[in-house]
Amino acid sequence: MSEPTTTEVCRRLVGRTAVITGAGSGIGLATARRFAAEGANVVVADIDEGSGKAAAEEVGGIFVKVDVTDPEQVEALFKTAYDTYGSVDIAFNNAGISPPDDDSILTTGLDAWRRVQDVNLTSVYLCCKAVLPYMQRQGRGSIINTASFVAKMGAATSQISYTASKGGVLAMTRELGVQFAREGIRVNALCPGPVNTPLLRELFAKDPERAARRLVHIPVGRFAEPTEIAAAVAFLASDDSSFMTASEFLVDGGIGGAYVTPQ
Ligand SMILES: NC(=O)c1ccc[n+]([C@@H]2O[C@H](COP(=O)([O-])OP(=O)(O)OC[C@H]3O[C@@H](n4cnc5c(N)ncnc54)[C@H](O)[C@@H]3O)[C@@H](O)[C@H]2O)c1
Repeated sequence: MSEPTTTEVCRRLVGRTAVITGAGSGIGLATARRFAAEGANVVVADIDEGSGKAAAEEVGGIFVKVDVTDPEQVEALFKTAYDTYGSVDIAFNNAGISPPDDDSILTTGLDAWRRVQDVNLTSVYLCCKAVLPYMQRQGRGSIINTASFVAKMGAATSQISYTASKGGVLAMTRELGVQFAREGIRVNALCPGPVNTPLLRELFAKDPERAARRLVHIPVGRFAEPTEIAAAVAFLASDDSSFMTASEFLVDGGIGGAYVTPQ
């Protein structure tokens, strides 16, 4: 299966302004590249200044340092996007964490639980709340919130707060998609399967047995590349998905449909 190269992609996002949180790395970075290749103005938002600045420079966009758990910083992020480019057409609310101290419910403490809820769920609430008024004024917009396939399926290799946070992202996305549908604003959740990114590599380097236990459940037999997830985000961001809202878009290599997988 070949991945699209930037020379092959279409230009569906010309003139659109896209804010991407967590754009310094992984899925966010691949999406920043894809959005730029499709013609969008890209606002790279990340807590990590080094990777964020590098990403913005690479895609010809701007960098805004933001902690997505901070309401004022999130407000300022979307204001900067609007002030710089004159519209905010796409919000890819993607920043998230998956720390090792978020594990079985029996061993996960309240601090780890709260930290993961803040970064993965409260951040999506803050970003949607901040961007919706711009989109309402424009009468159009596409919001994509990153959930995960783990919001749909149970795992014996638990990350209890992570899973619960992503379930919250799905429910919130569905509700917003329904509420704002007649205002030209679409809100969809993206549910990636396991992706070959630093977040997952770090987790699995610490526990190869856990990695092997997961890999066996993926019909295609490998993790996704970030570019494959970015292609799905670009579809949700573009008018090609104009009749999709309030959906849970699974991009999971067949995990969600599998019972017994090929050897
Ligand atoms: N990697 C996977 O297998 C996988 C699978 C399903 C869903 N996801 C989800 O996809 C999203 C992106 O994951 P990734 O694998 O690309 O991760 P990543 O670690 O490669 O990138 C995450 C980025 O978010 C930034 N970030 C972290 N905390 C932040 C904060 N408080 N404020 C602003 N930025 C912050 C980091 O600096 C980093 O650049 C996450 O929501 C994750 O839960 C990942």
